[in-house]
Amino acid sequence: MVLRYLQFFQLVIIILSVYGLTVAPEKQLLCTSNDIDILYSYCGSGRDNFLFSVEPCLLRDRSNWQGTIFWIPKADLTVVNARIQLSNGPSKAFKWESTICHGMDDDYSFCGTLKGETINTTVKISGSGSKYLQLLKGEYIVILEIFTGLKELVTCVNYTLFLK
Ligand SMILES: *[C@@H]1O[C@H](CO)[C@@H](O)[C@H](O)[C@H]1NC(C)=O
Ligand SMILES: *[C@@H]1O[C@H](CO)[C@@H](O)[C@H](O)[C@H]1NC(C)=O
Repeated sequence: MVLRYLQFFQLVIIILSVYGLTVAPEKQLLCTSNDIDILYSYCGSGRDNFLFSVEPCLLRDRSNWQGTIFWIPKADLTVVNARIQLSNGPSKAFKWESTICHGMDDDYSFCGTLKGETINTTVKISGSGSKYLQLLKGEYIVILEIFTGLKELVTCVNYTLFLK
């Protein structure tokens, strides 16, 4: 039964690739080091104009990184909320939600950007999260969702972290 299902699935994939469609977007490599590999794709079928990368490509024993954001948002960035979910296999290990733009006196330069404008900026990231989380070797999925205004989802990125 399982085998048959797999064969059927392979057939579907072959048909879809022949016709130039893809079922799930292929993950692109964001960075690789002897500590971690990070890959990403967008959650939906579409490609968002959003790229968030972190330097250096190291997680363990670090508390400072530089994030680079390249983004052409699909909505005005007046009020912006972000949700990050980290999971390892079927268990949801960690969930973080925060307002990153309040609409006034915001810390981030990209707050206030209008729909369709280009953001190309860096942000400093600090935290000792990597010391609190017990990061074992293996594969982690991090879903980053960005909402504007009254919970309109504007961007969703699916990162895969391979901890070595
Ligand atoms: C994220 O990617 C993983 C592995 O590529 C996949 O199993 C999972 O369904 C994806 N989740 C979402 C919300 O796109
Ligand atoms: C972003 O800005 C940097 C310089 O600040 C530039 O080198 C880079 O090419 C820009 N990226 C894009 C995608 O425009």
